[in-house]
Amino acid sequence: MYGLHPDVMTEEFKFRYLKVDWFFPNHMHNVLEQIKLLGKKYFKEADIHACLFAGLFHDAGLVYERTTADAKGHENRSVEYAEKELKLLGYDQSFIDKVSECIKATEPDYNSELPEALLVRNADAYAHIISMHFFAKANFTNDIHSFIKWFEDKAQSTYSKITLPDLQAEVGPIIDFYKKIIENYKNNKRETDFLNKIVQD
Ligand SMILES: [Fe+2]
Ligand SMILES: [Fe+2]
Repeated sequence: MYGLHPDVMTEEFKFRYLKVDWFFPNHMHNVLEQIKLLGKKYFKEADIHACLFAGLFHDAGLVYERTTADAKGHENRSVEYAEKELKLLGYDQSFIDKVSECIKATEPDYNSELPEALLVRNADAYAHIISMHFFAKANFTNDIHSFIKWFEDKAQSTYSKITLPDLQAEVGPIIDFYKKIIENYKNNKRETDFLNKIVQD
């Protein structure tokens, strides 16, 4: 998995956030940790082994066979990569199918009833909200305005992936707070835009 990532030395590289030293120690490890913790508490019957493989591979498609800047569809490439690797490791098709279903469930529009898939979906979304993930991404956007637009959409879509009521209750106030600071930014930006216009006129 580490080997998939580009060895990026230049700061101009537009996919800098795919560098192994930022991406893995944070998001991947956060997700794996949450799969273990949430699994023990809320999904006692789930096949944790399959969930951990899904957690490990679920964002591989952000790098594997990626050709555009748009991250959309990376879950399908993650499934492809996971299938390839798990076959090499000798896992049977029903286990591989389970891992694939969990990976697909990290996509916002994909709904699965499989307990393993729900566990991975919740762990992924929760890991984003309780880690530096959103803020670290600010480093990799062209300007602060486009980061804030991205952040606004991402905070909402990430929150909507959480289905466990306990987690919803915990992160709900965080999301509300984010909305508040985004609103604050927009109001004050309007002020600055207005002032800039006066200066230009
Ligand atoms: Fe993802
Ligand atoms: Fe993820």
